[in-house]
Amino acid sequence: MEQVPLDFLGELRRTHTCGELRATDAGKRVILMGWVHRRRDLGGVLFIHLRDRDGVTQLVFRSDGDPAVHAKAELLGSEYVIAVEGLVEKRAADTVNAAIDTGGVEVVVDRIWILNTSKTPPFPMEENVDVKEDARLKYRYVDLRRPHMQRNIILRSKMAFAVRQVLTDMGFLEIETPFMTRSTPEGARDYLVPSRVNPGKFYALPQSPQIFKQLLMVAGFEKYFQIVRCFRDEDLRADRQPEFTQIDLEMSFPQQERIYEVIEPLIVAACKVAGYDVPAKFPRLTYAQAMRSYGSDKPDMRIPPFHSVEDLFPGAGLTPEGLPLVAIRIPKVGAISRKERDELKAAGQERGLRVYDDPKRLDRDFPEQMTAVRARIGSADDDLLLLVGWAGEPKGPKPEETVLMACGHLRLLAAQKYADKHKLLDPTNFQFLWVVDFPMFEWDEEEKRWNAAHHPFTSVHDEDIEKLTSDPARCRAKSYDLVLNGTELGSGSIRIHRQDVQSKVFTALSFSEEEARKRFGFLLEALEYGAPPHGGIALGLDRLVMILAGETSIREVIPFPKTAKGTDLMCEAPSDVPERNLRELGISIRKV
Ligand code: AMO
Repeated sequence: MEQVPLDFLGELRRTHTCGELRATDAGKRVILMGWVHRRRDLGGVLFIHLRDRDGVTQLVFRSDGDPAVHAKAELLGSEYVIAVEGLVEKRAADTVNAAIDTGGVEVVVDRIWILNTSKTPPFPMEENVDVKEDARLKYRYVDLRRPHMQRNIILRSKMAFAVRQVLTDMGFLEIETPFMTRSTPEGARDYLVPSRVNPGKFYALPQSPQIFKQLLMVAGFEKYFQIVRCFRDEDLRADRQPEFTQIDLEMSFPQQERIYEVIEPLIVAACKVAGYDVPAKFPRLTYAQAMRSYGSDKPDMRIPPFHSVEDLFPGAGLTPEGLPLVAIRIPKVGAISRKERDELKAAGQERGLRVYDDPKRLDRDFPEQMTAVRARIGSADDDLLLLVGWAGEPKGPKPEETVLMACGHLRLLAAQKYADKHKLLDPTNFQFLWVVDFPMFEWDEEEKRWNAAHHPFTSVHDEDIEKLTSDPARCRAKSYDLVLNGTELGSGSIRIHRQDVQSKVFTALSFSEEEARKRFGFLLEALEYGAPPHGGIALGLDRLVMILAGETSIREVIPFPKTAKGTDLMCEAPSDVPERNLRELGISIRKV
C-alpha cells in the first residue's frame, strides 16, 4: 500500500453527520467524518461521497481551491477514513441527487484530515451486489458497513429499545440470569463449559432462562423480562442459530389472556419501529383447529385454509375410509401449466398423498359433489383447486394428523411456487396469530414414552388434570405459540406452580422421582416455598427482526452469526486449544 501520511483526530469534532445536511443548511461551515464511499474525478474537480452510519454527503474539491488540500484528496482511496471541514452549498436544480437525503447540497472542502487508509475492500460496499456468503462472513466488519446490514442492525437495536420501553412501562423488571448453569429443559443438546476448579465437571450454557425466570416468580418479582442470549446445539437452518436472542418474560398470577395482553402491544410497538402498523389484536386458533384447517401448528394465514370434504364423497374411494379428503384452494393460480400441476402432484406423492388435480375430470365424475366443494371452500374460477387424499395405509400414531400435515406442506409449496408471480406471500402482509391449547404430550415411538410437547413445567388445562395419568393423549396444555406468516415467533405457557401436579406430570413423562429430583430438584423444592401461579413466553428477537426487515435468514440480522456448520469464519471458532489448557481442565481429546 502506498505510504499516505496520516493525521491525528486531536480535538476535532464533527458538527453534523453525513445524513443530516439539507438545503436550509447552505452557508454553514461544517466538519464531517466518515469513509470514502465513492470518488469521481471530473477534469480537476474531485467529488467524493462521504459515508457514515447516518448517510452519504457529497464533498467537492474544486480545482481552484487550496492546492495542498486538493493534493491530499488525490491520495484518497475507497474506504479511507477522513475528516473534512468546508462550506455547505445548495446544489443547482439540475445537479440535485434525489437518491440520497442530502442530495440537495454539497460540501465544498477547504481542510482535510486523513485519519486512516484502507486496503481495497474484498467486495463492493454497494447495495444489491451479490457477494458469496463465505466472503461476507469472513470480512463481516466490512459486510456490516453495507447499507442493508446497517439498516438491519440499526432496526434491531431500535426494536430492542422499543421492547424494553413497552415492558418497563408495564412494570416489568429487567433481571439477569446466569449463563454458566446446569442443563435446562428445552430439548436440544447443551453447550458445555468445563470447570477448571471442579475437574471433570461442566457447566451448561442455558438453552433458555426457563427455570431461573420461574424461580424469580417464586422470589416475588412478579414481572420479569430479559433480552437474553440462549444457546442450543441443534441442526441449523435459516431461522436457527446456535446462539440466538430471546425476548423472555414471566409474570405472576396471569391467565393466558394476560400474556397476550402484554405481547400484542409489544409487537405493535416493534412493528411501528419498522414502519408498519399492524392490528392491535391477533386472532387465535386452537392447535386442533390449526391442524384441521392448515395442517400446521404454525399456519401461514396469507393463504386461505383448506377444508375436509370426505363427507361429500361417501364410498367414492378417493381416500381410505376414516382419513380426510382435503380440498386445497390457492387463489389466482388456476391457470398453471400441465407440467406445473404434475410437479405439485409428484411433491404430494412424495409425502404419501394422492392428488386429484384435474378439475375437468372431477367435474365430469362428481358434478354435484364438486359444486358443493366449491361452495364450501369459496373457490373462484381462477383459483387452483386440488382434491387430496391419502395414497396408502394409514400411517403414524395419529394417521389423520399425518394426512393433514402432508396437505399443509402441499398447500404451502403450491403457494410458494407461485408466490412471486401473484404476490400470494407478500412479505409485508404481517399476519400474526396465536395458536393455543397444544397437546400436553407427544408420543415418542422410539422410546415408547410420552414427551412434553412444550416443556415439563407447562400446566395442563384445569379440567384435564385427571387425564394426566388416565389419558395423556387427550390432555391439553395451557400453552400458546405466537406465529407470524408461517414462522414460530414465540412460545410460552402457564406453568405448574403446585408440587403435587408437577409430580403427576413427571410420572406421565416416565421420570422417576429420583430422576426428576436429580435434574430439576431445586425447582421442585422452590415450588414448596409458596410458588405463585405464574406463566410467560419467549419470543425469538432474531426471527422478529428478520421478518420485519424483509429478510429470509436470521444471519442477516445478527452482526456476527455462525455458518450452517456452526463455525465463525472470521475468528475461526471453534478452534483447537493448547494441550496445556486441556490438561488444566483434566480433559483429553479422544478421536471420534
Ligand atoms: P422455545 O424453545 O419455543 O421456548 O423458544 C422460544 C422462541 O425462541 C426462538 N428460537 C430460536 N431462534 C433462533 N435460533 C434458534 N436455535 C432458536 N430456538 C428457539 C423461536 C422460539 O419461538 N423457555 C421457553 C419459553 C417459555 O415457555 O416461556 C422457550 O425457550 O422464535
